[in-house]
Amino acid sequence: MKDILEAPFVVEMIRTTTNMYNHGWDERNGGNISLLLEEADVKDYLDTDAVIRAIPTGFSAPELDGKYFLVTGTGKYFKNVQYAPDVNLGLVRIANGGETAELLWGFTDGGKFTSEFPAHMMSHVARLKVDPDNRVVMHCHPANLLAMTYVHTLDEREFTRTLWQMCTECIVVFPDGVNVLPWMLCGTNEIGEATAEKMSTARLVVWSLHGIYGAGKDLDETFGLIETAEKAAEIYMKIAHLPRVNTITDEQMHQLEARFGVKGREGYLA
Ligand code: 13P
Ligand code: ZN
Repeated sequence: MKDILEAPFVVEMIRTTTNMYNHGWDERNGGNISLLLEEADVKDYLDTDAVIRAIPTGFSAPELDGKYFLVTGTGKYFKNVQYAPDVNLGLVRIANGGETAELLWGFTDGGKFTSEFPAHMMSHVARLKVDPDNRVVMHCHPANLLAMTYVHTLDEREFTRTLWQMCTECIVVFPDGVNVLPWMLCGTNEIGEATAEKMSTARLVVWSLHGIYGAGKDLDETFGLIETAEKAAEIYMKIAHLPRVNTITDEQMHQLEARFGVKGREGYLA
């Protein structure tokens, strides 16, 4: 068996959680990540027959039966993942129609997966239907996106258009735009179901007054997706109180669509 601490998926998870903490997106235990793994990748590092604990999930997701996830632990601090990955992370296999997570590695202090596990697992189901290459669901609390939900309308078209207008490359990075949920109680199956529904039409879902969810094919790409939206929100929060003299026009957005071979969300551009 190879050393799991040297597995690319663990190394990359440590780098990503550390980077997110350093960006100020994950105060205290804020934020969580789940990474879908192939059984072939896992088998080099673990005896997949050796289940440490079976943890009930409290929801069903039959589509995920047999799938492996590396996931951050509930109550764990992103800043600490690099120092104790086996305490702060866990590797689980979904079983029993989604109702059980079999722990194969990690959570060595008796901990368990993030309280947002419903939103993560249901979002994986939703994204895999749209994009079979989706591997990552990432949640965090970036300050500017959060701030924006206090002062900007939560209308999804308007919210998306504002972000697209803040940096030229936004429409290229997230042509599907940003979906927005109103404030909801976090950590519940209800917010999980609502998030997954929003994930079926966009890779970014804002949780108003709380944070954001992103989905993508790997950790780097998903980080970059949230990073781009957060940069746009930062520009917005710098200029929202000032008279707007210039903006990126819809005509210019259409030029970007043609240049980069993307198509903005239907009906979002004039
Ligand atoms: P966890 O510590 O359970 O992952 O919760 C953090 C969080 O951001 C809740 O939305
Ligand atoms: Zn949160």
